[in-house]
Amino acid sequence: MTARAEVPAVVDLDRVRKEYDGGRIVALDDVTLRFGQGESVAIIGRSGSGKSSMLNAMAGLDRPTRGRVLIDGREPPSAAHWTRLRQSSMGLVFQSFLLLPTLTARENVEVAMFPRIRSVAARRARADELIAEVGLTDRAHHRPGELSGGERQRVAIARSLANDPRVLLADEPTGNLDSRTSAHVLELLMDLHKTRGMALILVTHDPAVAERCHRQIRMVDGRVVEDRVHGGEGRAA
Ligand SMILES: Nc1ncnc2c1ncn2[C@@H]1O[C@H](COP(=O)(O)OP(=O)(O)OP(=O)(O)O)[C@@H](O)[C@H]1O
Ligand SMILES: [Mg+2]
Repeated sequence: MTARAEVPAVVDLDRVRKEYDGGRIVALDDVTLRFGQGESVAIIGRSGSGKSSMLNAMAGLDRPTRGRVLIDGREPPSAAHWTRLRQSSMGLVFQSFLLLPTLTARENVEVAMFPRIRSVAARRARADELIAEVGLTDRAHHRPGELSGGERQRVAIARSLANDPRVLLADEPTGNLDSRTSAHVLELLMDLHKTRGMALILVTHDPAVAERCHRQIRMVDGRVVEDRVHGGEGRAA
């Protein structure tokens, strides 16, 4: 518990409540959490417990009904600020990959750099580096439809790294993959977390995935019912 207090927070949730349908559904119920730089955190809990709602709030994709989300100690004041933050310091990975089907693997990664890197050559070179980092150089010119699930997710991970995020938010990144492919993608995420020193916050149903993270947070009915740090791997220095 003490380890967490020592590192500066990258994301803070301050009494975050998220309601849907005019309050009939409470997806997040007064959630207060602090995520430190370089932490690896698993968010676990049954279907409908609020895990995706929490991640979406942390990425500014969905605004809380009440409460605040702070990035580096400050509350982004507008949607435009959130967009810039997602382009500059956050990486997002989803269960369903969300790749553009008509673009090649490399082009999918390049697209994420449009707002930040103006030179075509620089974008291309950077995309090639990232594609190599996820081990897909020989598949760089294929479209998503020609790639396996694990390969698609590796492209999505390369894309999420396009702007050197300090936080990677991943919502069931291995949820659509078989167990062997899932293990491979998990290794990749843990490696990237360690070598880049970025915080990794991932939603998972898989206890084996959760155990690999330094910290586990369990949700039930929109509330945090357990927040546990154990001495395992995955904590960046
Ligand atoms: N756009 C929405 N409109 C109405 N209700 C929603 C909406 N999004 C989520 N909910 C509800 O909010 C609650 C929490 O949903 P959430 O998607 O955060 O759960 P989850 O823990 O990610 O579940 P899963 O493991 O199935 O992905 C659920 O009851 C869900 O039905
Ligand atoms: Mg979900």
